[in-house]
Amino acid sequence: MASSSEIRESFLRFFAEREHERVASGPLVPPNDPTLMFANAGMVQFKDVFTGKESRPYSRATSSQKCIRISGKHNDLENVGVTARHHTFFEMLGNFSFGNYFKQDAIKFAWDYFIDTLGLDPERLVVTVFGGEEGFAPADDEAAAIWKDVTGFPDERIIRCGAKDNFWQMGDTGPCGPCSEIHYCLGLDDIDPRTFGEEPAADGRGWFELWNLVFMQFERHAGGRMDPLPAPSIDTGAGLERIAVVKQGVLSNYDTDLLRPIVDLASEISGKRYRASQSEDDVSMRVIADHARTTAFLISEGVFPDKEGRAYVLRRVMRRAIRHGHRLGIHEPFLHHCALRVVEDMGDVYPQLVERRALIDEITQQEEERFRRTLDRGLQLISDNKEWIDAGGARSLPGKVAFKLYDTYGFPLDLQNVIGEEQGFDVDHAGFDAELAQARQRSQGSKVG
Ligand code: ALA
Repeated sequence: MASSSEIRESFLRFFAEREHERVASGPLVPPNDPTLMFANAGMVQFKDVFTGKESRPYSRATSSQKCIRISGKHNDLENVGVTARHHTFFEMLGNFSFGNYFKQDAIKFAWDYFIDTLGLDPERLVVTVFGGEEGFAPADDEAAAIWKDVTGFPDERIIRCGAKDNFWQMGDTGPCGPCSEIHYCLGLDDIDPRTFGEEPAADGRGWFELWNLVFMQFERHAGGRMDPLPAPSIDTGAGLERIAVVKQGVLSNYDTDLLRPIVDLASEISGKRYRASQSEDDVSMRVIADHARTTAFLISEGVFPDKEGRAYVLRRVMRRAIRHGHRLGIHEPFLHHCALRVVEDMGDVYPQLVERRALIDEITQQEEERFRRTLDRGLQLISDNKEWIDAGGARSLPGKVAFKLYDTYGFPLDLQNVIGEEQGFDVDHAGFDAELAQARQRSQGSKVG
């Protein structure tokens, strides 16, 4: 069994031995990039290198990048804790070529690393290639031929997919291109490539993506126009948590050594046993584990919970975690303990966590104390509410109540959605927006007057 530190190191070493520069993770908050809230992939710190705006003393690189997917094109928040694979925070291992090698080498490197270095069973793998789509690019027959040659796979294990799955772009603008993915079949004895594409089971059994190889060829501009990049390039991304699942013989990312210690800590603090099931309690412990990582990493980069932009996203994440702790019967501030566990476990790879340890501790406790003061009263407001709106047979919480929860009690809207899902109601978003607009007008009016 390989620890996640060993996997991370073996990946970076494999590419360093093949003349790739080892580059430290870029920041989660991309500097000077208004198109992106958080780094959502390893290529983000190299965006301008792909487009030719910036040059570096190397044309091959490898990194383990801190990523957050909470907003914009790649948003995983709703699924966190519910599925075995989704996170807000995760680490992406990648290798990059800036006009140096292209498809042939990228495919060969990936295959050699997976089969020879990691020892994955090729019988459990299939690959996908871009099948072509109007407005994107033609079918990638070249990649299909290379895969066939490198893997020896029959055609049914080289699967063609559309742009939704096999054309990667960072956001609405930026470098992009067709991609190929390597998928793994986990936990099933009968491995049938024809079942590829079926949703994995809730416990994590079934097919899931391990590595994405993007054949970067275009830059997409606002309005949709695509221009060719100065030179065809490579951008790849493999989720460390997912590789750890395979190498550690577990089904869920939350059972790997990256997350399980934080889940166990949540279990210890709450006094509830973790059973790795879909029970509400287990989901809550997984949400806490994920959100504690996002909390620790964002605070280490100087993002503090507040009312706007990135700071508000952090507040939403923290308050969701705190509320899940409250649901588990934890009555004292606890999230800082989980965040400090992240510092302990990952500080050697990401030293900023250690440098900002005291700040992570303090900010997390403060936010929890602040929110706990109003949490009970806010929940009470929901249970006391009698004026449910009838939304086609379903109960919907009126916008007025939702706004009061948000404004007076500090319940972000998506947290209200989570509570609604558990208690069987929707939130009247249009009504909420109207209340918010009115409140904004009032405060502007009072400023002018
Ligand atoms: N940038 C690609 C991804 O995130 C590799 O999947």
